[in-house]
Amino acid sequence: MADEEMVVTPWEVVGEIDYSKLMEQFGTQPLSEDLLNKFRKHSGELHIQLRRGIFFSHRDLDWLLERYDAGEKFILYTGRGPSGNVHLGHVIPWLFTKHLQDIFDARLYFQLTDDEKFLISQNLTLEDTLHLTYENALDVLASGFDPKKTFLISDVKNVQTLYRIAVEVAKTVTYSTAKAVFGFKESSNIGILFFPAIQAAPCFLESATSGRNVPCLIPAAIDQDPYWRIARDAAPKLGYYKPAQMHCKFLPGLGKGGKMSSSMPETCIFTIDPPKVAEKKIMNAFTGGRSTVEEQKKMGANPHICPIYHYERFLFEPDDAKLAEIENTCKSGGLLCGEHKATLAPKVIKFLKEYQERREKAKDVVSDCFIDSCDRKLQEALGLERF
Ligand code: TRP
Repeated sequence: MADEEMVVTPWEVVGEIDYSKLMEQFGTQPLSEDLLNKFRKHSGELHIQLRRGIFFSHRDLDWLLERYDAGEKFILYTGRGPSGNVHLGHVIPWLFTKHLQDIFDARLYFQLTDDEKFLISQNLTLEDTLHLTYENALDVLASGFDPKKTFLISDVKNVQTLYRIAVEVAKTVTYSTAKAVFGFKESSNIGILFFPAIQAAPCFLESATSGRNVPCLIPAAIDQDPYWRIARDAAPKLGYYKPAQMHCKFLPGLGKGGKMSSSMPETCIFTIDPPKVAEKKIMNAFTGGRSTVEEQKKMGANPHICPIYHYERFLFEPDDAKLAEIENTCKSGGLLCGEHKATLAPKVIKFLKEYQERREKAKDVVSDCFIDSCDRKLQEALGLERF
């Protein structure tokens, strides 16, 4: 695993990930202390994911905060490729996005790329991805977004809303650029060649609709960055602001190394997993522990390679002092892996139960949150006559 070459694209993440190298490769900036201090002015205590470097990199966040301080509000934009059930790794950036929605009182555009997942999949039909769009949308709402300020987009069903912008973006992007950015091949289908224009469109949706330039912030995992390079190149050519980004790291899977990935379901905690199933997966997880209890008590374990520790760090232990204690007792051999798993499991179960309740409730409102059926809501929000 460790010597496997790192590959990070929107469709593939393999190998051990070196985030500093990615920032260099992608040309993004670290979230500096200085910038975090500016952020603190709005958020009070920093969000757990900022304190712990889960969100670690950005583009133009300093510019965005300056505009905000000057009275110019921004929109949030993020999304999900509906290729299967949602797992905790997907939810991590959504929880941070909700925090941003709360502190900046921002509208969120959330794209579900049922077209993309159909185009790149060997086995999913359009019916499948459309169905998953609905299922995944329930998860989006269960993550706590304010339904009044959240606009879901199914590419296939709501394409009319995106298409004009997508066509304008597409005209600015040559095949040679798209090929260099995404690695398209002669054998790539032409649907996926056009798709980056569809993923760029929501960046400019509110600007195009309202007729005034609206800054956009995209919180997302770093594998989506190639899309934003295309969107940022197109923006000034079309008279829009370049969208700003905040990038996060990947939640590890329950196995040894690698991010949580639906292609290995036994190493994923899905939001719809029954509590017993999730508990079992946790109890079977890989850890940073030694092969015997005795050895571990003597020499300690390694939390930094341990998914159980990382779940505490990403989400389940919000108290920094307690997290530090977990880290220290793990390293010193005072905390055994079985014990640690047994204390993590109830926290995960509590989270899942609450999430599943909200997910159930979302069924009542989800159809009203898709952009076509909420045109009126958007018109009102933007103070427009027609959308
Ligand atoms: N392409 C993304 C995926 O496969 C889905 C997506 C669309 C997205 N728009 C986005 C993700 C904006 C993050 C931000 O998951």
